[in-house]
Amino acid sequence: MKHHWIFGVMTLTSACVSQDELSTIESASTDEIKNNHPISNELGVATTFSTAGAVDLTNEFFQELGTNDRHCGSCHKAEEGWTVSAAGLQKTFDRTGGLDPVFRTNDGSNSPNADVSTVEARRAAYSMLLTRGAIRVGMPIPGNAEFELIAVDDPYGFASASELSLFRRPLPSANLTLIPVVMWDGRVTGTAVGPSLNVNQDLSNQSNGATQGHAAAPDEISPSIRTSIVDFETGLFNAQVVAHDAGRLDSEGGRGGPVPLATQAFVAARFNLYDAWATSDNDARRAVFRGQELFNTRTRATGGTCRGCHSAENVGTNKNGTFFNVNVSAGSRRQADQPLYTIRANALLQSGAANPAAGTVITTTDPGRALVTGKWSDMNRFKVPAMRALGSRAPYFHDGSANSLEEVVTFYEESLGFVFTDAEEADLVAFMAAL
Ligand code: HEC
Ligand code: HEC
Repeated sequence: MKHHWIFGVMTLTSACVSQDELSTIESASTDEIKNNHPISNELGVATTFSTAGAVDLTNEFFQELGTNDRHCGSCHKAEEGWTVSAAGLQKTFDRTGGLDPVFRTNDGSNSPNADVSTVEARRAAYSMLLTRGAIRVGMPIPGNAEFELIAVDDPYGFASASELSLFRRPLPSANLTLIPVVMWDGRVTGTAVGPSLNVNQDLSNQSNGATQGHAAAPDEISPSIRTSIVDFETGLFNAQVVAHDAGRLDSEGGRGGPVPLATQAFVAARFNLYDAWATSDNDARRAVFRGQELFNTRTRATGGTCRGCHSAENVGTNKNGTFFNVNVSAGSRRQADQPLYTIRANALLQSGAANPAAGTVITTTDPGRALVTGKWSDMNRFKVPAMRALGSRAPYFHDGSANSLEEVVTFYEESLGFVFTDAEEADLVAFMAAL
């Protein structure tokens, strides 16, 4: 079995390691990343804390279990918030001429039929991955659906009703004890469809599905390998520990960083990490506190706070595993690089308060949860992602459509009608940069 190290560990005398330095030491193989090893990102420094004592780079997570040289770590990297960032992918492309295993046509390219014969062809073929950090998830319209696909506008000439191309960001494979459902659309369950009572069982099935799908393994992986991968990933906690302006996030009573997260209960409650900074002498820290309180309490015109959906204490998933439509995939937001699907409600749709009449037509770039349940009422719904270590993993939203935290805030102002002053926008960004 071949092992591939995501990067080597340096003996550190200085405070942190930049992503550039990391790529130059990539070949220095080692078998672990020490707990709280600092890794620079755009907004400061993030670290990973593993309950196993260190991040074990010999785990099956980093072994090629399939046939296309990929492992879980090809798309879930410690230095990129346990997903892959667009900036990180561009560096990986430049370093390898687009031949790194993340660049594979089964789900990395815009179409499985894309020409990847030259570097320039590959740059075009993998443009959704390079610019949005998005992998192509292929899913059909389910048989029992209350809707049908009546038109496809796929710039890459591949998508159809039997396989829609859905370009989605890898979700972080860390902080997993604090998620209620697995995948953007909750489609991987160990039990029935719907929020599962046992996320570990879901993750076990997910580890197999990812190996057979992303890594093109012909056979299922064994129960012991699944358990090993799930034990590994559920021990990982990842968070920002230094923000450029506010400094150490675990100082002066602040409870940022991954260590408090490792013992964080999965409960619905307000974010309270920065309560101690309400009266700090440090301007940047008071801004983080103010942003936290805007997140917790600012109500939009039609009712509801950020925290109303991002309800799980200090992590921001939804405690109940509810899927929401915040309009990220609405046809009106479609950009030229995205496939657009025209969908019509059919006779299976029972008319009622929540449902439009049969025959109603909408456009979307990704129906989300509706492709799992077949229900019109789940159209464009996605799970509420965790909000930690955001600085390591731009762009944001399932389709990578927000390049910065500022763009996230603007999105919510436009899409859900939140109203913030310029100063409040800056406070909210400072808070999210401290997660
Ligand atoms: C080719 C890139 C790629 C590879 C390789 C890959 N993943 Fe993923 N992973 C993704 C994408 C994309 C998603 C989100 C897909 C979706 O929700 O539709 C995801 C989602 C996940 C999630 C869900 C997290 C959550 O919050 O719901 C977990 C856990 C995960 N991957 C673990 C793994 C493991 C374990 C492996 C190796 C067996 C693996 N991944 C291999 C791209 C990848
Ligand atoms: C109605 C429920 C709801 C409300 C209100 C809400 N969110 Fe979200 N949030 C979501 C969902 C669902 C997603 C995933 C959307 C997608 O990608 O399609 C999300 C995604 C995000 C992300 C992206 C995280 C990532 O990993 O890409 C951030 C950041 C975020 N929200 C911050 C906020 C802030 C700040 C507010 C308040 C101004 C807010 N949210 C209000 C439901 C909500």
